[in-house]
Amino acid sequence: MKYKRILLKLSGEALMGNKQFGIDNNRLMQYAEEIREIADLGAEIGIVIGGGNIFRGVQAERGGMERTQGDYMGMLATMINSMALQAALESVGLFTRLQSAIEMKQIAEPFIKRKAVRHLEKGRIVIFGSGTGNPFFTTDSAASLRAIEIDAEVILKGTRVDGIYDKDPEENASAKKFDTITFDEAYKRNLKVMDMTAFTLCKENDLPVIVFNMNSKGNLKKVVTGEEIGTLVTV
Ligand code: GTP
Repeated sequence: MKYKRILLKLSGEALMGNKQFGIDNNRLMQYAEEIREIADLGAEIGIVIGGGNIFRGVQAERGGMERTQGDYMGMLATMINSMALQAALESVGLFTRLQSAIEMKQIAEPFIKRKAVRHLEKGRIVIFGSGTGNPFFTTDSAASLRAIEIDAEVILKGTRVDGIYDKDPEENASAKKFDTITFDEAYKRNLKVMDMTAFTLCKENDLPVIVFNMNSKGNLKKVVTGEEIGTLVTV
């Protein structure tokens, strides 16, 4: 195993699978199985999941809603996904704890860094819900922040593409994938790895990011065991 402690960032949209909205149970269970594979290897796993399959604050703002209101609604959406993921992980026999950046004590522990680390040491998967608890921050920023706080060795950003390309691979057949790239090079080329807040947090804290295709079976295990799939972004 190459990485012992990881922060896995999952996209909320990916949870939709082929649906237009909400959570596709097959996709959810597929993710739970993928995660179980790496838990069985002894990986210590923190997870942040987005909420875009349920609510997007940015779009609500375009519709006239105040940004902060929309962002808080988005944070609640991440809690719905986090709870679904927690249930799925437990259904495949894993031990989990859900911590929320916004207090909702009937359904989640509050985020407490020391407690999160202790859970990880005991082999529990810790899901971090409600983003950072602040509007104007994305769940990528939450993933970066939590990864740094729990001393994760790497952020694994699970997406629906195979990595970072020089052009949009869904629009250009000639797009070339990078196996590795530095934060500076990605910035110069204006490649969208994460939003700038998340990107800067990772860069300044020397936290590598691997962007990989989470929807392809076995990929998560490959990444954790050091197979060079996806794109590795380093300082
Ligand atoms: P240790 O005993 O310290 O290893 O951890 P633990 O998580 O097993 O202990 P604790 O007694 O804190 O938690 C027992 C259960 O209660 C776990 O499922 C926690 O997730 C849950 N729990 C703890 N604090 C809270 C809380 O504030 N709100 C909710 N909803 N659940 C909590």
